[in-house]
Amino acid sequence: MYKLGLIGYPIGHSLSPWIHNQLMEQQGIEGSYELLEIQPDVFDEKMNFLKEKDLHGFNVTVPYKEKVIPHLDALDESARQLGAVNTVKHTSKGWTGYNTDGTGFVHSLNNRYPDLFHDQSKALLIGSGGAARGIYAALTRSGVDTVDVANRTVKRAEELIEQIPASSSSKSMTLEEAYEKLADYDLIVQTTTVGMNPDNHKVILSLDHLTKGTVVSDIVYRPMKTKFLIEAENLGARLHYGHEMLLQQAVYAFQIWTNTNPEAMPLLEKFEQKLKGV
Ligand code: ATR
Repeated sequence: MYKLGLIGYPIGHSLSPWIHNQLMEQQGIEGSYELLEIQPDVFDEKMNFLKEKDLHGFNVTVPYKEKVIPHLDALDESARQLGAVNTVKHTSKGWTGYNTDGTGFVHSLNNRYPDLFHDQSKALLIGSGGAARGIYAALTRSGVDTVDVANRTVKRAEELIEQIPASSSSKSMTLEEAYEKLADYDLIVQTTTVGMNPDNHKVILSLDHLTKGTVVSDIVYRPMKTKFLIEAENLGARLHYGHEMLLQQAVYAFQIWTNTNPEAMPLLEKFEQKLKGV
């Protein structure tokens, strides 16, 4: 009987319980996945309580991905490199933190567009926050040639590139420069919250310099098809959706907790129906 959960604030609308219940059913595993909402002013106190709850593991979401680290006993390599944790497993050594966001992104992208992963492929990441860091780290290890980073505050893009070691060279740029250079890339990944409900009329930049066949990805999943993706589709791009990453990072977390090999693809259609209904 697995006892799992999610910490964050606010998390009332989280889709994680639904996903993990589906994964338990798929794997024939009994267990529960609880929403453990923690108010920011009592975070440290509640984390001590959580230690007594005897959980097998839990996910961590905004705003605690960094704040949780002092409460953990160990970190895996990706969590250490990023300084952010989205999955915690209880082991004999105590609590170990992992980060499955970036690997979830790359795996879901590879499922759909394996042709992207070769040594001449050029990717452009838009944004430099926590989500961008995880995706940057995983993408630079995925076999693509280049991962450049554009951000409103270009200094944050420079810092991201400096702080996360990558085998290939990366350039930082402003959003205006990115707009001019869109045709140079095979993959464009939107990692900011721009376009998320209720601001779904917004786009971070116009895509009118895009070439047909480019893969355009948006990590926003509410709405499922953002204005950015609609624009991309109208220009002949191939689309990759935020909910595909969400599902795959959950699959990796579940795998870490249960040592099983769950599959995301059989759940995708049902998950899309679920997302449309919320
Ligand atoms: P998270 O950790 O969730 O990714 P974050 O650290 O707040 O969030 O980062 C949000 C990202 O969205 C940043 O790249 C931010 O750009 P800045 O670094 O210039 O702040 C970007 N972002 C948020 N709102 C934006 C907007 N209206 N226009 C352009 N970029 C925006």
